Amino acid sequence: MSNESRIGKLLETYSHNELEDIIRTGREFKKLMSYYKCALMEVETKFRVLNENMSLEYDRNPIESIKTRMKSPESILEKMIRRDIPFNPQDLEENLFDIAGVRVICSFPKDVYLLEEYLLRQDDVVLVERKDYIENPKENGYRSLHLIVSVPIFLAGETKMMNVEIQFRTIAMDFWASLEHKVKYKKNYHCDEAVLDKLKQCAEDAAKLDNEMQAIHDIIVS
Ligand code: GTP
Ligand code: MG
Repeated sequence: MSNESRIGKLLETYSHNELEDIIRTGREFKKLMSYYKCALMEVETKFRVLNENMSLEYDRNPIESIKTRMKSPESILEKMIRRDIPFNPQDLEENLFDIAGVRVICSFPKDVYLLEEYLLRQDDVVLVERKDYIENPKENGYRSLHLIVSVPIFLAGETKMMNVEIQFRTIAMDFWASLEHKVKYKKNYHCDEAVLDKLKQCAEDAAKLDNEMQAIHDIIVS
């Protein structure tokens, strides 16, 4: 790795803003970001197709909503610094797997695993990493199924495999995660133990609701 691309070294010469601008507008970085946008479109379409097909075949719409997001240049830079990733598109691509993110909000907990199965069954989807925070919630109560998948994008002159992070959640899990994020990042407020306990209890209440709604749904469709 060249010494110039060491991020600590670069920060002696360039400001954060300047490096963020390079990620935003530099020729090679911009190209990489465009590839990630294409990968987002591919994955979003896969889920829309699955939802449409299940609606036709089983009269079910397992997906409540789909959100896609590109990691901002600011967050990319922050993570490159934190992980000491050399400042070039290739190292970025090889080391950061969550530049393109898709969040799939499902109706019921079982839909999460059904959609995972249907997605991974597709022969152009490669599973890179899987973290099941529904089966094993995080210490703070966070629940979601996280996958990193690699999917092809079909460009004018080549086919390229790109990594996309997918977070599957139910409405209840998303409700909790969105509000917890707001509380956690509220400026100048340091959560004490009692608040964290309350948040965790809310996550457990949300999970209980999910299970009850799933049970009701199972009775109705059986
Ligand atoms: P980073 O990708 O560096 O954050 O570490 P990691 O790969 O260990 O992260 P992980 O896969 O556990 O989570 C990545 C993403 O999941 C975050 O960017 C959030 O969107 C979401 N997430 C993870 N933990 C929490 C949490 O405790 N609360 C909320 N609200 N979101 C979370
Ligand atoms: Mg991650």
